Amino acid sequence: MGTLTTGGLEGVVAGRTAICTAEAAGDTLFYRGFDVADLAAQASYEEVAYLLLYGELPNAAQLSDFRTRLAGQRELPPDLKTLLERLPAAAHPMDVLRTGVSVLGCLEPESEDVTALAERLLARLPAMLLYWHQFHTRGQRIDLGSPAADLTGHFLHLLHSRAAEEIYRRALEVSLILYAEHEFNASTFAARVITSTRADFYSAIAGAIGALRGPLHGGANEAAMALIASFGGADEAEHGILERLARKELIMGFGHRVYKRRDPRSPIIKQWARRLGEEARDTQHYAIAERIEAVMRREKRLFPNLDFYSALVYRACGIPASLFTPIFVIARSAGWAAHIIEQRQDNRLIRPLAEYVGPAARAYVPLAERP
Ligand code: COA
Repeated sequence: MGTLTTGGLEGVVAGRTAICTAEAAGDTLFYRGFDVADLAAQASYEEVAYLLLYGELPNAAQLSDFRTRLAGQRELPPDLKTLLERLPAAAHPMDVLRTGVSVLGCLEPESEDVTALAERLLARLPAMLLYWHQFHTRGQRIDLGSPAADLTGHFLHLLHSRAAEEIYRRALEVSLILYAEHEFNASTFAARVITSTRADFYSAIAGAIGALRGPLHGGANEAAMALIASFGGADEAEHGILERLARKELIMGFGHRVYKRRDPRSPIIKQWARRLGEEARDTQHYAIAERIEAVMRREKRLFPNLDFYSALVYRACGIPASLFTPIFVIARSAGWAAHIIEQRQDNRLIRPLAEYVGPAARAYVPLAERP
């Protein structure tokens, strides 16, 4: 019938956005016109979240107010805490966040300005994740406050019950900046589709978390860590990767739908992975990761994406692997919210066509007459 279909919508422009552009031609990434490399080198996560939500970098007073507003909204509703306690200890933390966001949508149905909601959710996601985690791993109902003024420091404080050393805090913050936004990726597109039906903010975020959970998207960072940790050394890794490639297995943390030669975020996070490995005197995992990278380039001409070396950064920060993808949720919630806001500003129901490849029209056969 002559309809053009593109598997996985590859190469299809599915809408317009002023938030971010990931460019295949130059393998570059810009948030509202700012190169992500500059933001990762100089900005705080809060500056980036503000930029995404409000369109401009904050001045000093705006940033200070923004931080104060976030820090003042870290507490969770008591009913949500009770529910988090009742969720299974063995649940995947991504399911916990998806459920927690959904519960917030029941407890506090959307009735206020969406940017205020977005700020509150951003402030609460680390609390939600770590309240559940600490209750089920340590049997403690942790205090959700912390002396840390920033989201990254707060996350690490709730996790380790002490202030984070600056090198680890900054490494985690850089990863949050790199994860904060990525144009029409699967989870963001899911959020925009949900928003286009005029559904509420929480439904869009819960749907986005569901989309992010899979190993082809956000789940790749957890899977990459499992891969790296499965090898005892670089030679063993080379052998293991060759075997996997021979079995046509996917190597998690490699390849990208948009970028074709390199992921511009990867060299940035790789540098931090190396620094933290040296700091912690654990260079073994980094050496294994570099060998995997070399084998993938040589054998498949594939490059590491952001998820690959992020896994090493998180490990060095003492973060359990099951919390890796939830960190992606925390970071990306700023980008999702920006897209929900943008979709609402010029909304039209997202409803594409499908190319039909099923049977031609045929007559209904009554049950009694079917063979
Ligand atoms: N490991 C091994 N082979 C890979 C690969 C990987 N990580 N990524 C792509 N390839 C291979 C494919 O098997 C395919 O080979 P073929 O042409 O011989 O069939 C070729 O490269 C093209 O890949 P394709 O599946 O068409 O790319 P895509 O655009 O549909 O997929 C990803 C992009 C990200 C889903 C894919 O690279 C992938 O699954 N990566 C691993 C998961 C991951 O890291 N996700 C995080 C993304 S940020």
